[in-house]
Amino acid sequence: MSAQNTAPTAQASAITDRVQQHRTYLMCRPEHFTVSYTINPWMEPANPTDTAKAVAQWQTLYDTYVALGHDVHLIDPIAGLPDMVYTANGGFVIDGVAYGAKFRFAERGPEAPAFMDWFRANGFDVVDPVEVNEGEGDFLLVGDTILAGTGFRSTGDSHRELADVFGKEVVSLSLVDPRFYHLDTAISVLDPVEGPGGVQNANIAYLPGAFDEPSRRILEERYPDAILVADEDGAVFGLNSASDGRNVLISPRATGFEAQLRERGYNPVLVDLSELLLGGGGIKCCTLELRR
Ligand code: ARG
Repeated sequence: MSAQNTAPTAQASAITDRVQQHRTYLMCRPEHFTVSYTINPWMEPANPTDTAKAVAQWQTLYDTYVALGHDVHLIDPIAGLPDMVYTANGGFVIDGVAYGAKFRFAERGPEAPAFMDWFRANGFDVVDPVEVNEGEGDFLLVGDTILAGTGFRSTGDSHRELADVFGKEVVSLSLVDPRFYHLDTAISVLDPVEGPGGVQNANIAYLPGAFDEPSRRILEERYPDAILVADEDGAVFGLNSASDGRNVLISPRATGFEAQLRERGYNPVLVDLSELLLGGGGIKCCTLELRR
């Protein structure tokens, strides 16, 4: 756990106290992590990776969730599937229903059935996807609305399928910067799905430059109180973070975002996943929320 859990500043204490919500997550130990192909601009197979270091950093993330009181389930890693550590892409789960992933690139294709098997074996109702989608990498539940990314991985057709499966409002957003190819690299959901104030309480942080102009306008209109994150913090995957409504796990390099969170009364918890960034992933990518 980081040493940064200091007392709130006067400014922060002026804001209502943030309420922590219990979370249940699915993670995958990166025992087979390496970078052997390139499907995003972060991946460079010529650069060496250190699997032991990836496992150690991942373990810190796991231990941090557990120390905060969250439940973490594990799916077994499979040799030859080095990206399986990024469980956020394994599906999208609400109310015990798991909408499966259908990966854009062949290299990750075999992960999809492995996740589906896990969901089925653990009592979730599984929906086989028709359309290409990369799960919670591109779909984020904010209050009762699903924000859905497209442009690099999940298709617009998957957004329609998603709306049919869950019967919720789906808002499509277009990503334009190849470094931020999944929605969870450009938006962080800060507030709980349920809680005091309910849906109205839900807020996000985002990186404006990751979106096209119409999508930026949608975000401005829907989330006037959003935290707008600076490019420097976005570029170190600051937005690829996990919040329980009070504690927000972020990269230690996102120092500006850390200060913004503190001002709003959140408790930033710093977890360094530098090794996993070599595969183009961070905290949120390694975390799939399981909603029963
Ligand atoms: N190497 C993986 C890919 O390119 C990284 C996935 C990151 N996951 C995420 N939820 N953003 O597919």
